[in-house]
Amino acid sequence: MKKVMTLMITLALLFTMAACSNQNASQSEDPSSSAPQSSEPTSESSQAPFETPSSEPEDSAAKALVVYFSWSGNTESVANEIVAQTGADVFEITPATPYTDDYDALLDIAQEEKQNDARPAISGSIENLDQYDVVYVGFPNWWGDMPMILYSFFDAYDLSGKTVAPFVTSGGSGFSGSINTMKTLEPDATIADGLSLGSSQAANPGSAVTEWLSGLGLSE
Ligand SMILES: Cc1cc2nc3c(=O)[nH]c(=O)nc-3n(C[C@H](O)[C@H](O)[C@H](O)COP(=O)(O)O)c2cc1C
Repeated sequence: MKKVMTLMITLALLFTMAACSNQNASQSEDPSSSAPQSSEPTSESSQAPFETPSSEPEDSAAKALVVYFSWSGNTESVANEIVAQTGADVFEITPATPYTDDYDALLDIAQEEKQNDARPAISGSIENLDQYDVVYVGFPNWWGDMPMILYSFFDAYDLSGKTVAPFVTSGGSGFSGSINTMKTLEPDATIADGLSLGSSQAANPGSAVTEWLSGLGLSE
C-alpha cells in the first residue's frame, strides 16, 4: 500500500512540475510575440521625421525681391529677366511726381537733383521687407551715379543682414562709383558682385543674367 501511495504522490509531483514548465514557456513567448507589434509604432514614428525635411527647403530657401527704377525701359528689361529666371517678387521704384518724357529736359532735371542732393519721393512702398534675404537692385546710370531716387530708396529701407545684388544699365559708364556708395548707405548689407549691361545689351539680357545669377549662387 505504501508503494502505491508513493507512486501516486510521485505522479502528482511530476504532473505539477510539467504544468509549471508549460506556463513558463507561454510567458517567455509573450514578449517575443509582442515584439512585432511594438515595432509597428516604432516604424510609424520613424515616418514622422520624413515629413519634417520636406518642409525645410521652403523655410530655408532664400526669398528674393527685385527692386528697380527705369526711365526708358532698359533696366526694366533686365529686371523682368531676373524675375523670370529666379521667381523673385518685384517692386518698381516709381516717382511720386513722374519725370518728364523729354530726354533733354530729363538730363537737366537729373543733374539738378544730383547737385541738390535731392530725395525724390517714391510712390507706394514695399510690404514686409523682412521676408526677403536677397534684394536685387537695378537702375540706370545717371550722370555717373545712381538716380537720386535710389538714394531715397536706400534712405527709406534698412537692408541690414540682406544680400544686395546690384545691376545697372548705361551708355557705357557702368556702375561708376555706385557700388561703393551702396556699401556706405547699407553698411550692414552684403553687396554682391554687380551686373553691368550697356543700353543695347539690355534688350536681350537672358544669357548675361543667367551667367551672373549662377556666379552669385543666390537663386531661390
Ligand atoms: C539723365 C540721364 C543721365 C545719364 N547719364 C549717363 C552717364 O553718366 N553715363 C552713361 O553711361 N549713361 C548715362 N545715361 C544713359 C542711361 O544710363 C542709359 O540709357 C540707361 O540704359 C537707361 O536706362 P533706363 O532705360 O532703364 O532708364 C544717362 C541717361 C539719362 C536719362
